Amino acid sequence: MTRDTNSDEALLEWEASLETGMAQIDEQHRTLIAQIKVIADRSRANRVAETLDFMQNYVREHFATEERLHHETDYPEAEAHLDVHNAYFQTILNFKKEYDAAGGEKHLLMLLKLTNLLSVWWKVHITGMDRRFADYYRAVFPCRAE
Ligand SMILES: [Fe+2]
Ligand SMILES: [Fe+2]
Repeated sequence: MTRDTNSDEALLEWEASLETGMAQIDEQHRTLIAQIKVIADRSRANRVAETLDFMQNYVREHFATEERLHHETDYPEAEAHLDVHNAYFQTILNFKKEYDAAGGEKHLLMLLKLTNLLSVWWKVHITGMDRRFADYYRAVFPCRAE
């Protein structure tokens, strides 16, 4: 198999293991993962700043959706989940600082770093905490379609 190992080794693609079974959440996760794929394209190196904005603004909405559901269902892990959501923004801010300090000539390297960082973060969070909440939700509301 031939493959460009520098560009897409860590790129997160949508796969069945990422599905939580909650339609709205899955839809938002798909949107997020599609955005990672956009910047993973080297020709889009100039879109790192734009992606960082998306990864803050859209993700704020996404987290709010989950946190509302946590609250509505009296989810026992809500606080720990919230801490991880909040830590995400710090991770993005730290990357932003590094990106700004790197200067234009290193933007391609930063693009690869960001692709990797986002791929790992989302995979771990979705298959861990988000999946655990989905399991809880289904146990509490077995009749709900979502
Ligand atoms: Fe999520
Ligand atoms: Fe979450």
